[in-house]
Amino acid sequence: MIDNLPARRTIAGEVDFTMMYAAHDAFARHLDRIAETLDRDGRVSPGAAERWTLFAKQLHIHHTAEDEALWPALRAAIASPDELAVLDAMEAEHAQLDPHIERIDARIEAGSAVDAATGVRELAEGLARHMRHEENAALPLVDAYLGRAGWARFGHHIRSTQGISGAAVYLPWVLDGASADVATRLLAVLPPPARLLYRTTWRRRYRAQFG
Ligand SMILES: [Fe+2]
Repeated sequence: MIDNLPARRTIAGEVDFTMMYAAHDAFARHLDRIAETLDRDGRVSPGAAERWTLFAKQLHIHHTAEDEALWPALRAAIASPDELAVLDAMEAEHAQLDPHIERIDARIEAGSAVDAATGVRELAEGLARHMRHEENAALPLVDAYLGRAGWARFGHHIRSTQGISGAAVYLPWVLDGASADVATRLLAVLPPPARLLYRTTWRRRYRAQFG
């Protein structure tokens, strides 16, 4: 639980941000779980280290995609200084999170479970504030200026850079621990072949590795 985190604002626009919210919720959920595992075990188990590595990879993919394909398109579409300031904040907040991640990497590597758990909780707090800022201040601009077509281009960028092998890991990871409602809505927007692969192969492979 993060103290005084503002509520997620409902955007009554044309874009369906289900995928973004599901990713943000997954980041928060996986960090909680990693911190709890480190506390419980009192050591950095191979499982906790693997979960951390996967989390860091997914966060890197997410932020890189936004920095490459979402914020630049939005920057080109907006003009007001207030709106530009929101985008400057998004990029700055992404950059501010990087040292946290490097610090946790080092603590995991060193096997320092207590310090790693502390770092994970600090990251969870900073990331939660960034994600809520993005949801409440930047996504309404995406909706207003890029619309459904611009959002679809962003989705296409992610699919073309990550490919099928990226989806094979991302989908079971993002749905690990998600509510049935989110899972239903997210699977509904997938192309049928991806939905089938998720159900027959990807989910099983993920569970075999991460439990
Ligand atoms: Fe995001």
